[in-house]
Amino acid sequence: MATDPRGRDDVRATVAAMTPDEKLWCLDGDAPFWAGLTYLGEQGYHKSPFRAARVDRLGLPGFAFSDGPRGVVVDRATCFPVSMARGATWDVDLEERIGEAIGTELRAVGADLYGGVCVNVLRHPAWGRAQETYGEDPHHVGEMGAALTRGVQRHAMACVKHFVCNSMENSRFAVDITVDEESLHEVYLPHFKRIVDEGVAVVMSAYNSVNGEWCGDSRPLLTEILRDEWGFTGFVISDWIFGLRDAGRSLHAGLDVEMPYRMIRAGHLQQALDNGQASWSEVDRAVERIVATRRRFEDILGGPVPGRDVLACPAHRALAREAAAKSVVVLRNEPVEGTPVLPLALGEGSSLALLGRLATAVNLGDGGSSDVWAPEVVTVADGLREGLAGVEVLVDDGADPEAAAALAASADAAVVVVGYTRADEGEFIGEFNSGALTALFPGEDDPELVERFTAEIATEKKIQPPDHVAPSAGGLTFEVGGDRHSVHLHDDDVALIGAVAAANPRTVVALVAGSAVVISEWDGLVPAVVQAWYSGMEGGHGLADVLAGRVEAAGRLPFSVPFSEADLPPFEIESTAFTYDAWHGYWHLARNGTAPAYPFGFGLSYTSFALEAAEVEVSDGTVQVRATVRNTGSRPGTDVLQVYGRRLGTSRPERLIGFRRVEIGPGERAAVDLELPAAALAERDTDRHAMVVRSGTYAVRVARHAVDPGITTDVELAPPS
Ligand code: BGC
Repeated sequence: MATDPRGRDDVRATVAAMTPDEKLWCLDGDAPFWAGLTYLGEQGYHKSPFRAARVDRLGLPGFAFSDGPRGVVVDRATCFPVSMARGATWDVDLEERIGEAIGTELRAVGADLYGGVCVNVLRHPAWGRAQETYGEDPHHVGEMGAALTRGVQRHAMACVKHFVCNSMENSRFAVDITVDEESLHEVYLPHFKRIVDEGVAVVMSAYNSVNGEWCGDSRPLLTEILRDEWGFTGFVISDWIFGLRDAGRSLHAGLDVEMPYRMIRAGHLQQALDNGQASWSEVDRAVERIVATRRRFEDILGGPVPGRDVLACPAHRALAREAAAKSVVVLRNEPVEGTPVLPLALGEGSSLALLGRLATAVNLGDGGSSDVWAPEVVTVADGLREGLAGVEVLVDDGADPEAAAALAASADAAVVVVGYTRADEGEFIGEFNSGALTALFPGEDDPELVERFTAEIATEKKIQPPDHVAPSAGGLTFEVGGDRHSVHLHDDDVALIGAVAAANPRTVVALVAGSAVVISEWDGLVPAVVQAWYSGMEGGHGLADVLAGRVEAAGRLPFSVPFSEADLPPFEIESTAFTYDAWHGYWHLARNGTAPAYPFGFGLSYTSFALEAAEVEVSDGTVQVRATVRNTGSRPGTDVLQVYGRRLGTSRPERLIGFRRVEIGPGERAAVDLELPAAALAERDTDRHAMVVRSGTYAVRVARHAVDPGITTDVELAPPS
């Protein structure tokens, strides 16, 4: 991790040398509001980073932010599979390498702060931005987010978001989440804490309010938890535009920089200082945090800046392909005439019907802040045509199910690509019907600042959208998407599947979605189903690699897929007050005694595995697991061993406390050793307001997915000494 080459005193001295105006300048974005907004509407998102806290007189660079998480949003960059797909790889090493690639590209476009560590847990699959996080489990999400942070922070600073309880999209500017202390700390915060412990530079507060206070104005969240309890020493930025509501209150709360424009603070902070709602020592403290954090990264950020030729370079594209292939989760793979349909056994001269409007579509995911302008995109059709040498690929958009079925009947196998696009799910702004929000808009911009901003953006490299991007606003689609209105496929997709399945016994369905889709009404019709995600610029190659069996199927679900929508916790799209409790995902299903259709952690391989033995011991606050897994099939394969723990005699859910991806040759065994901190089993003590590992008997289950009986061992955890 980066170190602070100079000391705290030096930071203090730097800040002491600033004028009051310079200090206030650092507390919001550098761009004027209206000019900034206009630029944004002109594809500004993709043209240059958002800058803040730069003070030229003192040589303070401030920071330059670019979004993610599926790559770098500025310029034409590598578009990786979305985070949820990467969550399905369960591969922390891969995620770290993706972080490194992103960090390099980020620097190449002139940014130094990456806004792509999005780790709000998936409470419900209808959340519009589900694809931007890694899954439903705090431990798994925390490990993946920590890996991305590690990788990015070899080259730049990373920002984790959205702090906290931000998992409803359409009502994000309006909703107040009520959450009790236990649920907050055991379900909605552990992954943020994990990433803070990893040394993340910056935290972005969420738009929504929690327990009656807007996150950007919340001292309990931004100071009492983040700094006092967890010891976070970086700085906090707001989410964009409506991320705080009160200039003085937000500063007092511990929010350091209002992003991205001169808006609420520019209009009201001076007044708050004059009437004592905020203090100059709080101003100093915020500026010190920005300067100190930047200094911590000085060795890295002061080094050579990579050229733009790293953007979507062959090595990064290869990484995107690796991630796309590793993310494919085979949910179902039944035999037809004695042999599983996958991998496709299509020899020279055979044919494959490829059906559905998404087969030929450039379908990278959300069209909001996570939109990445990939220079080129390998669609499913491109990938299969290239990846199945000697096989005739017959493509049809499936608009007429009968015609699609006729084509399928003429082929040796069929692949139907169905699911969603950015029109169905993604970031959403919608209409501002709330006077409270528009009242926050500032008056006219300061002409001097507009001049400076205009001069600055004029020097930026001219960047044109790639050909596949719709000309309207550079493809940004904040006005569509949002939370999903259904967790089922569209009716026309279901009709297409039914027609094709009836025509060809070897029908494979590839599901494109950012999270779970309820498929129980049709999955029994087809022998094979794979979850194929918004899989990035190399997605078609990655999917073809797995369908053709060049890469072994190894993805595992990062969420539970229920049999029925009724098995999910409640979700209300247009809600202004909502309660989060400790029960969602596999915890919710287990508590209700409901079996999932496809459990969390589940995925088929082209080989088979057996967990032969597992021993668990506790020593020195560590849960030590030693397991033996055997590949019982005839192909090499990768399994993901999962460890779940639960304190006996309580109503608390069993939770994931560790996992390991392990590659095993055919017929071979692998010994897997895991050392897991007992802190993963900590509970919230609401009297002491602290996380504690309670003494008692814990059942530790080593398993291959959330409802696999696996091997359970009871261990005693002693009271802390
Ligand atoms: C999103 C953030 C994003 C920011 C900047 C907001 O609308 O909620 O995730 O980082 O915009 O683009």
